[in-house]
Amino acid sequence: MSELIIKNIQKFYGDHKVIDKLDLQINSGEFVTLLGPSGCGKTTLLRMIAGLETIDGGELYIGGRKANNIPAQKRRIAMVFQSYALFPHMSVKNNIVFGLRIKGMELHDMFTRLDWVLPLLGLEGLENRLPREISGGQRQRVALARALVLDPDVLLLDEPLSNLDTALREMAMEELKRVHRQVGKTIIYVTHNQAEAMTMSERIAVMNAGHLEQYDTPGALYRHPRTMFSAEFIGSPSANFIPGTIEIKNGELVLNSEIGLLEIDETRKDYLRNFSGRSVVAGIRPQDIILSSTRTHRRASDSHVTLGVELIENHGDRSFVLGRFENGLPVRFMAANDSDYRTDARVEVLIDGRCIHLFDPETRQNILEK
Ligand SMILES: Nc1ncnc2c1ncn2[C@@H]1O[C@H](COP(=O)(O)OP(=O)(O)O)[C@@H](O)[C@H]1O
Ligand SMILES: [Mg+2]
Repeated sequence: MSELIIKNIQKFYGDHKVIDKLDLQINSGEFVTLLGPSGCGKTTLLRMIAGLETIDGGELYIGGRKANNIPAQKRRIAMVFQSYALFPHMSVKNNIVFGLRIKGMELHDMFTRLDWVLPLLGLEGLENRLPREISGGQRQRVALARALVLDPDVLLLDEPLSNLDTALREMAMEELKRVHRQVGKTIIYVTHNQAEAMTMSERIAVMNAGHLEQYDTPGALYRHPRTMFSAEFIGSPSANFIPGTIEIKNGELVLNSEIGLLEIDETRKDYLRNFSGRSVVAGIRPQDIILSSTRTHRRASDSHVTLGVELIENHGDRSFVLGRFENGLPVRFMAANDSDYRTDARVEVLIDGRCIHLFDPETRQNILEK
């Protein structure tokens, strides 16, 4: 049992509050990612879980036991650091079994673990090489192997793929998912890269300046962002944010926004009547705005807006387009590459009212997602 419960946890460096009353519960065997911008406290939280940093407030439970004061070496937790921290003068094999040797494991048992982990991570044949004689991707796998042979209950990975190029990183992501399925360990993965988090995790904890913005599955984070920060950080390109007011026009509820009147889907209208007259910020993903010409079927909740095309960024099958409304407001959207549009043209786009997220401009919280 390696469930992890973090309750109201806090960390200060001097007067600087780095982790602010954070709650998180991680199931045994779950793959959870801490996602957030650089400096938001991801590494600090990971090091607190590992026992490498003291906990200044709140409680940490590992497998049902309070762990605040359990020393690092007794926590059955292994950590892979961003730098990998391999010993340069030691062979791959000796790097991998180093931790087992320290623990005084029998040679025979050490070799059993080695025989298990080398094929698991595709490192067979490289046992006797030095770290400088293998590639970056292989070094990353050695670091992972070294953590796995310790047979930890919880595996902590701090931006392990950030030193790899795109192709290697994609391969390593698939591999990490496969390893997780095979070993079934609880994994806490840290990254600032939303695509990595979305690809691999069962749940993602979105962090901002030491606090938790949202903790949800990748699908729920994308479809139901609870804060403007979540909406901006998850998904690529980032969501558009357009100020407006919720109003009743001719008895119908609409969003009077800075790019015109926008329809909202029927299912949310009733509830939104309570918000009539309120200022909001509409969060709309570029993926939810399409060229009107590419859609024949129209829904009552679709709105049409005319934009000038300013920039087209080609992504092969589709393009990311920077459009501009007549008042100068930028609106980013996606367009299929077989459709007809070009720079400086005026185009009509369709905004799907079901996909407009509404935020309070003051609290930056979603007014509908609690
Ligand atoms: N040992 C330390 N002493 C003082 N401040 C620190 C220390 N370690 C980290 N910090 C500060 O704590 C904040 C969070 O850092 P960190 O956990 O490394 O963020 P992340 O891993 O999300 O980039 C940053 O503002 C950083 O400067
Ligand atoms: Mg870090």
